Amino acid sequence: MKYKSILITGGAGFIGSHVTRLFVNKYPQYQIFNLDALTYAGNLENLSDIESAENYTFIKGDITDESFVNALFEKHKFSSVIHLAAESHVDRSIEDPLSFVKTNVIGTMILLNAFKSLWKDDFTDKLFYHISTDEVYGSLGADGLFTETTSYDPNSPYSASKASSDHFVRAYGETYNLPYVITNCSNNYGQNQFPEKLIPLFINNIINEKPLPVYGDGNYTRDWLYVVDHAIAIDLVFHKGKHEETYNIGGFNEWKNIDLVKLLCKQMDSKLNRVQGSSEKLITYVKDRPGHDLRYAIDASKINKELGWEPSVTFEEGLKITIDWYLDNSTWLKNVTSGEYQSYYNKQYS
Ligand code: NAD
Ligand code: DAU
Repeated sequence: MKYKSILITGGAGFIGSHVTRLFVNKYPQYQIFNLDALTYAGNLENLSDIESAENYTFIKGDITDESFVNALFEKHKFSSVIHLAAESHVDRSIEDPLSFVKTNVIGTMILLNAFKSLWKDDFTDKLFYHISTDEVYGSLGADGLFTETTSYDPNSPYSASKASSDHFVRAYGETYNLPYVITNCSNNYGQNQFPEKLIPLFINNIINEKPLPVYGDGNYTRDWLYVVDHAIAIDLVFHKGKHEETYNIGGFNEWKNIDLVKLLCKQMDSKLNRVQGSSEKLITYVKDRPGHDLRYAIDASKINKELGWEPSVTFEEGLKITIDWYLDNSTWLKNVTSGEYQSYYNKQYS
């Protein structure tokens, strides 16, 4: 069998939990190991439905702990890695850039070294799959799309750290023939996203009738993709993508922040049986994010043409599923917004 033992890093996080669930359920013949440090963003509740599956093992640990990671690779002989563990929030990277370098750059290096040491004499049927972001390409103006050949031009400490890790993965491919693939994806939304990111933060604030803090004039544009569609794309690239290549993944779905927020308010008012327009009254324009990228938009034609991937749900459908999930999972939401969340929130939005 080609992929016997797969290490997923960051599997207790937002996207990682959807990828882990998909692989555990779809591929009983693979042993799936989920390595996660359970930072504020990691949550084993995200995976309660698969925690006792026979082909699944959770390992609590930090990818920046070199001796621990080396010992783990020696013990389990991972034939492939799907690397999602990261510090992922731009606003936090502005406050604490070094922690992003540690996890996103040094952590990736430690995994690459461990993988190289284990298989350097024979990389046959091995794969290091690095999950990255469209933010490495910087900001678009009013026109154009990011393609796989767009030059890297990161603007935030987060995107600079992700760009750096992408470069190291590619460099290990060139220098040591380490088999890799990289995907750069646009903004994800869906179930289990930590409510520091725009959509779940605003859903939580609407539920609690708190202000909706729109940065700057709200005319920033993002390309939104439902997280399950990202997980499906990752499965396809893992099994059928060309090695030593990059694929862009996006939703063909651009929204200005303010238009998205208004749609969200409308859907939430209906769901909560509130008078239409009441949530919109919560919109509050606040100080802009420093270095705020104006627009991201992905040209996902390569993955579409080569692997036949396309999003399976419309934005309206995906947003409905997402809102329903947060309303049905108020305990999850309460648990993740207690403790550290409150001090982060007060510092960020006071
Ligand atoms: P997330 O913040 O929800 O989850 C990150 C996970 O990594 C958490 O479970 C956390 O505990 C774990 N982690 C953090 N530091 C760790 C460490 N040192 N050792 C082990 N585990 C650690 O992130 P996400 O939004 O699910 O993003 C996952 C990946 O996808 C990241 O690499 C991110 O850059 C990339 N990405 C995210 C998006 C998006 O819209 N969220 C879009 C494109 C790409
Ligand atoms: O493009 C992919 C990236 O998308 C991922 O790599 C990142 O991990 C992920 O966090 C996301 O980055 P963004 O910065 O685009 O996502 P965020 O949800 O933080 O913000 C989306 C937009 O909404 C952005 O223009 C900033 C704005 N915003 C965000 C927050 C949290 C607000 O106006 N107010 C807010 O309170």
